[in-house]
Amino acid sequence: MATRTSFGRDLIAGQWAAAEFAVLSRLWRAGAAVPYPVQLDGTELMMEFIGDHDDGNGVAAPRLAELRTDRRQASELYDQLREALLALAEAGYAHGDLSAYNVLVHRERLVLIDLPQAIDLVGNPQGFDYLQRDCRNICSWFTARGVAADDEALAAELLRTLPRAQ
Ligand SMILES: Nc1ncnc2c1ncn2[C@@H]1O[C@H](COP(=O)(O)OP(=O)(O)OP(=O)(O)O)[C@@H](O)[C@H]1O
Ligand SMILES: [Mg+2]
Repeated sequence: MATRTSFGRDLIAGQWAAAEFAVLSRLWRAGAAVPYPVQLDGTELMMEFIGDHDDGNGVAAPRLAELRTDRRQASELYDQLREALLALAEAGYAHGDLSAYNVLVHRERLVLIDLPQAIDLVGNPQGFDYLQRDCRNICSWFTARGVAADDEALAAELLRTLPRAQ
């Protein structure tokens, strides 16, 4: 890997894909709003397509960052986001790279994506820092749209739902 051979690159890509597949599988089983992981084939992870595919042409759902929402819609999406993050925390995870770019919204349903670097909150010594950063990033988007999204309160709520015995 260190010499950056194509073998090494494939190995890293394969581990990245395998990590995301494992996290998605676990979170999907826990009922979190993430794409259904279909299969892992070497460096390729196939997952549920979030979007419309009526006539064979897929149109991916917009990212949260691209949405024009009024305050009521933003508030409903924030409730869904909280639910999704609670499900992650119950399973022992923080997203690790949460922002309005890694959240899709399909027909008013919010789905978290881009989870290869999800953080094991209990095992990672920096877990709490990642959790706080996630909450700060995403709450700033909602706050700018008139939702009372308190990142510190959210982080505290998520910490309270962590699994206790591992
Ligand atoms: N399950 C999915 N269904 C539909 N579209 C998806 C799905 N996963 C990812 N996408 C689309 O691909 C884009 C990139 O996905 P993702 O965030 O997982 O990868 P990335 O490596 O972070 O790439 P980027 O730097 O573009 O964000 C998303 O913003 C979204 O538009
Ligand atoms: Mg991304």
